[in-house]
Amino acid sequence: MGLTSDPNYKKLDAWYKSNAGKLNMRQMFDGDKERFGKFSITLKTDEGDILLDYSKNLINEEVMKMLIDLAKSRGVETAREKMFSGEKINFTEGRAVLHVALRNRANAPVNVDGKDVMPEVKKVLEKMKGFCHKVRSGEWKGYTGKSITDVVNIGIGGSDLGPLMVTEALKPYSKEGPRVWFVSNIDGTHIAKTLAELNAETTLFVIASKTFTTQETITNAESAKEWFLNFAKDKSAVAKHFVALSTNAPKVKDFGIDTENMFEFWDDSHFRSAPLESNAPVLLAMLGIWYINFFQAETHALLPYDQYMHRFAAYFQQGDMESNGKYITNHGTRVDYHTGPIVWGEPGTNGQHAFYQLIHQGTRMVPADFLIPAQTQHPIRDSLHHKILIANFLAQTEALMRGKTTEEAKKELEASGLSGEALDKLLPHKVFQGNKPTNSIVFKKLTPFTLGALIAMYEHKIFVQGVMWEINSFDQWGVELGKQLAKKIEAELKDTAEVTSHDSSTNGLINFIKKNHA
Ligand code: F6P
Repeated sequence: MGLTSDPNYKKLDAWYKSNAGKLNMRQMFDGDKERFGKFSITLKTDEGDILLDYSKNLINEEVMKMLIDLAKSRGVETAREKMFSGEKINFTEGRAVLHVALRNRANAPVNVDGKDVMPEVKKVLEKMKGFCHKVRSGEWKGYTGKSITDVVNIGIGGSDLGPLMVTEALKPYSKEGPRVWFVSNIDGTHIAKTLAELNAETTLFVIASKTFTTQETITNAESAKEWFLNFAKDKSAVAKHFVALSTNAPKVKDFGIDTENMFEFWDDSHFRSAPLESNAPVLLAMLGIWYINFFQAETHALLPYDQYMHRFAAYFQQGDMESNGKYITNHGTRVDYHTGPIVWGEPGTNGQHAFYQLIHQGTRMVPADFLIPAQTQHPIRDSLHHKILIANFLAQTEALMRGKTTEEAKKELEASGLSGEALDKLLPHKVFQGNKPTNSIVFKKLTPFTLGALIAMYEHKIFVQGVMWEINSFDQWGVELGKQLAKKIEAELKDTAEVTSHDSSTNGLINFIKKNHA
């Protein structure tokens, strides 16, 4: 039975049609002093509590019950268990989904094809950890016996955004050790600019790619190798200075390097065992379902109030949009509902001065997650900056929820000395409808462990939504078409002959570029 035929979906839909327009958050807060307690949960972690406050949403107890009932009837619990037990739930590629095995601190067996993968996972993680420590401490030496001063991550998409986001977020924890660079785009400028800053003797290249077949990554890695050999002259030095973070060991070996790895983990026991009603990723996912499938919201904003998290939205834009940007269900049919939202965002408070206007007074619904650490890494001027940041974080979600009524706006204008026609003219512009949904996620401090917990939370949210929409969140065939066409066009760019094999726009563009290339 498809999602929209599920009786629990139909029940929610009927409720939405007759009641959703009447949901008024300001009134619900005024009428129920316990609302925060009812619609918030606190996750206990080894490094402090994480609060998820979802009370500023267009929900009441009845809605939340119906959403959780729907999650249950769509089989979220069974799907969750299938993932954790190593079943090949990525069925279009015939693969298990093992990111949870990497975080499996309890080492509970994860059987793939009847074999527990945990001993191998543990071995690789240990190897990665040992290697990283040696590089960072300077103990590991390059081909001329010098310590490493620069590490270059070559990867693209998730293989760039993941390491980049984590490296940026955890900068306060890596004051010592090599500088880290990222090369992702095929644009020659990206790699050339980076290499110009480096010394081959003291540079380590990490080639991050799950497949080790991605054209951009391999081309950039080859260019780095060529550059490196210009200095090193010794081919065997490549094996030393190029490290692969990849699941495709044979291809890695073809490149002439060995396999290594790295990370720090939060385990997934909360998602795996907490009842759906108090399960943070499930709650985030089902609130998303509520807005996307009933209110027809098109986007979801991620708004971290922490400069170190400035690539957090970009990382989960990739994670979410590549996982759930699909319209074919597990049954091979087209969905009759919306799937993954457009995910976007920027850190506060810069975002406030850039695009929040539309969230407050625009015509679209933009559900948003606000994230903030209670403690700053830099308590400069007696935490003055952080206090202002926190005040803004709290003020925005309050303003989005409460808005400003005509009466309130009128009073304010009168107090500022306006009256009569001048007041009437300005008044409608000063009114805020409010009732805009947000989640607030507050954690003690941005530590490696807390960041891991936030990553796990959003990954599992995406997983749950994929289950709800009955799509395979783990493949990316949609990216293939562009890749295939790029190969064809690349061949057509080799000479000066006029190209006529495409539509007139693509032909026109190719021929213009060819004429202007030299
Ligand atoms: O083409 C999409 C994609 O495969 C993403 O899933 C991935 O993050 C990126 O390209 C890079 O792929 P790989 O890690 O295999 O090099």
